[in-house]
Parts: sequence; structure tokens; C-alpha cells
Amino acid sequence: MACGFLIWTCVAFAKPQPQAYAVSSAHALATETGLSILAQGGNAYDAAVAVSAALAVVEPASSGIGGGGFWLLHSHDDQLSVMVDGREVAPGKAHRDMYLDESGAVDRDLAVNGGLAAGIPGAPAAWDHIAQKYGSLPLAVLLDPAIQLAEQGFPADEKYVTLLAMREGVMNRWPETAAIFMPSGEVPQVGDLIVQPDLAKTLRALADHGRDGFYKGDVAEKLVAGTQAAGGIWTLDDLARYEVKERQPITTEYKGYELITAPPPSSGGIALAQMLNILEAYDLSGMSSVERIHVISEAMRRAYRDRALYLGDTDFVDVPVDLLLSKDYAAGLRTHLRIDRATPSASLANDPTVWPEGDNTTHFSLIDAEGNMVSATLTVNLPYGAAYAPPGTGVLLNNEMDDFSAKAGEPNAYGLVGFSANAIEPYKRMLSSMTPTIVRSDERVAVLGTPGGSRIITMVLLGLLDFIDGNGPMSWVSVPRFHHQYLPDSISIEPDSLSPETIDGLEALGHQVQERNRTWGNMHGVMWDISTNTMQAAHDPRWSSGGAEVVETVER
Ligand code: GLY
Repeated sequence: MACGFLIWTCVAFAKPQPQAYAVSSAHALATETGLSILAQGGNAYDAAVAVSAALAVVEPASSGIGGGGFWLLHSHDDQLSVMVDGREVAPGKAHRDMYLDESGAVDRDLAVNGGLAAGIPGAPAAWDHIAQKYGSLPLAVLLDPAIQLAEQGFPADEKYVTLLAMREGVMNRWPETAAIFMPSGEVPQVGDLIVQPDLAKTLRALADHGRDGFYKGDVAEKLVAGTQAAGGIWTLDDLARYEVKERQPITTEYKGYELITAPPPSSGGIALAQMLNILEAYDLSGMSSVERIHVISEAMRRAYRDRALYLGDTDFVDVPVDLLLSKDYAAGLRTHLRIDRATPSASLANDPTVWPEGDNTTHFSLIDAEGNMVSATLTVNLPYGAAYAPPGTGVLLNNEMDDFSAKAGEPNAYGLVGFSANAIEPYKRMLSSMTPTIVRSDERVAVLGTPGGSRIITMVLLGLLDFIDGNGPMSWVSVPRFHHQYLPDSISIEPDSLSPETIDGLEALGHQVQERNRTWGNMHGVMWDISTNTMQAAHDPRWSSGGAEVVETVER
């Protein structure tokens, strides 16, 4: 990999060697899988494929072979980064108004449940691509742990059960799908074994034949037949023509740190960079808690407004990326940011609506013993995706089509609105919020990200600000979360996360503060402290199933 190569982004730093490797993911079995691949000499990219496949088996609510994701790879040797874009695409027969009923209203059921809700999956092609181009071990070796987990089963955990209870009614529309995830006929108890023989067979086809094992032949035929039987419009040609894209990451600089993060079709990197560009003029650590939350929320408000207006798949629409990332543009946005008063979102023009939180999607972070890093956020969209697996495949379909704007200005399942930039078109990628990120100086490196629908970007912002404040990953993944996304015009906070005085102070500035009845997100982070040559890994304490571990390679 030569510096200056078209896609890879060069970042010039010295190259110390770590004396450890680390993995943090949403499931302890997936973390173990990654560590075992690293222990047998695999590199970070090998481990990323193996962790992704294991998560597809043991955390089906959040990601899977029927979904997609973004894998941000960073090579320590060359100091180069690339984002492997395995995002789903709209099928060839998709069209702008496909979810509108006769009255012109969005049919929410069609948009999120069953065959029509599913985009063409990107995850299997991305695993194959990463293994072939960047890995050092055969794909079959990397998929083997996932195949074993699918064949032998794994115990349902709290997250599996909690999220399945939210999708049980829809999943029961398709008894063959329900039989996979609810083998006893109802939502399992924590500890019940979930065995997925059809998924094991599909993973084996991928292991044996690479991407063709999924996108062509027997598996593809079953996927197309099953999707069409459940109201979908996939064709064999849609599967065969799916392409992984390599994207140049978004990079920006904030107070001496280099940020490397997700470009379109994610909105995350641009929004994150915009928020940091606005915030860099303020001394956040010298502010009171009210001032700090106010200023950060105002930055969030402005970035989410631009997300709604401008962002979409850059292969299809012109997105003013350079403008949105420019420090001058951020300075312009700051001119109407008052330190003593909230800016009503309505005064910023355009008026989208509600924004609930999400626990879907997953993230893992890892660093190998050579210092290579992967920050990956993967998804099937809502918990258990479209809640439907075409018979005989074990492939739970995503419902990512709902990340498109089904109608200009209409909220999707997260309340996110969009306009023509994110309208449905054949083979287009739907806009995402997934924000796998690496933040580095010559002394410290953070690899972090989280699931959480529209709240992903603000969680990553709060996590990285905490890292820049000097804290380690246990702190970033634990920080109390607040969120503003332009509309509705309010700051959401986690339960009991702010004192009554702080809430009063924010309300006195003109903010509406909404305390939610539950927490959100599931952040996984790894830090390499180059100055002490130590690593730390942490998983979000909000869910118990995560696994984070550091393995020392040199005795101290
Ligand atoms: N499906 C969630 C996202 O991509 O943002």
C-alpha cells in the first residue's frame, strides 16, 4: 500500500510497535473468536471478518449475513486508512414511491417488515473482499468459528431475548423464521440454546466458494424465491451485480487529534466533523455543565439539519462534502449559535419530526499486535431486521430500505427525515448513521463506535470528546448520553443522567429536556496509549453480553 494511493488516506505519524492486541465487541463469543484468530497469527483484517461472522450468528438482532456495514481499516505500517463499504443497495425494481399507498401515505409495515423491506445484502461480499485483499488467512478459516457457533448453538442472552420480544409478533407471520429464533414456539429464556443449521450451510457455501457461494447458485436462488414469496422484488441479477466499494474516509483535525471516520453513504463522518468544527472554538472543559451541554447540543442540532437536507449516496447525488467539512462553513454556523440562548430548530428552516432511539446494529473495535486497527459498525437495521429469513437459507433479511427517505420530509423508524438526496433509486445505497471511528495523536489512539440508529453520531461525539479529555475506554463507553437531532427540538437524556439543577439551567436557556425511560447505545472501544505502550479495551456497561479483552504479547 503506497501513500497517496487513490483511496487510502495518509496520516503521518511515527510508528511504535504495540506489545498487545485487543478486541471489544457486543458479544463475548465474538470477541473470543477475534482473539483466537489473532492468536493463530491472523492480522486485524482477518480478525474483523471472523468477528463479523460470529456476531452474525450470536447477535442476530443487530447484524448478519443478510445485512451490511462499514469496516474502517487502518494499516499501522503505512499509516493508511480505507473504509470498506458493504452497505446494502436497493433492488433493481425499487422506485421512489414504492412504499406509498393510494393516498400517498408511507405504508410503514411494508417499509420495515418482510421481503419488500430488504436491501441487497453487502456483508458477505465485504467479508470476502476484506479477506482476499487485506487478510492473511483463508476465508474458510475465518468463517469456521461462526459455522461452529451456528451448528452447535449458543445460549440466548438478555439482549437476544429483550429485542426479540419487540419483534415476536411480526416474526410469527413467517413460521419457518420463527422456528429458527424461537425454537420452543415463544421468545426463549436467557440461556436457551439457539441452533442455526441452515445458516451454517449458507456460511459454508460462502467459505467454500467465496462471494459466489452467496450471490450466485443455490443460496441465491433460495434467497430470491423466498424474498419474492414474502412480497419482495429481488432478482438473481440484483444479487450477482452487488459490489463492495472502497471509500476514502472522512478526516479532520480537532485540537491536535486526527479523526478518521465514515464517509457517505454514512452521514456519520460528515456530521461528526461538522460538530467538531463548530465546537473547536469553545473551551468545553472550562464550561459549566449547562453551558457545555448547551453548546454541544447546538452543534448537534446544526449537523443533523444538514444531514436531513444534503446527505445521500454520493454515487447517485451530489453532496457538498467539501463545503460541509470546511472550517469556514462551521464558523458561519457558529455565528447564530448564542451561548445564552437555544436556537429554535424552526428558525434554521425545514421542519422534520420525531426521533426515537434504537438498540439495533452492532459495533466492534480491535487492534492487532502490529498496530493495525479495525473499527466496524454493522447492521440489519431494526432489531432482527425484516424479521424474515427466506426458507432454507438461515439468512435473516435486513430492513435497511427504511433508511431511505420513503417520502420527502416523512420520518422513518428513527424519526429521521430526508429529502431527494436520499430518495429511493435502483442500486442506490441508503443513507446510514453508522460511524466507525479512529481518533489519534502521536501519543494515544482510540478505536470506537456504537449502534443506536440516529443517535450513533452523537454517542461517538461524546465518546471521543471524553477520550480527548484524557480518559480511557471504560469512561468513553460509560459517559451519560444526551442527544439533539434538530427535530424534534429537544435534548434527550438518559434516565437520571443530569441533576435537576442542570436540567433547570438548560430549560432556562430555552431547551426542552426530555428524560427517556431507558438508556441507549452499546459502545465498544479500544485504546492504545503509545506513550506507555499499553492497551485498554472496554464494552458498554449498558448490556451485559459484551466482551472486551487485551492480550499482552510481550512480558513486562
Ligand atoms: N440502519 C441504521 C443505519 O445504518 O444508520
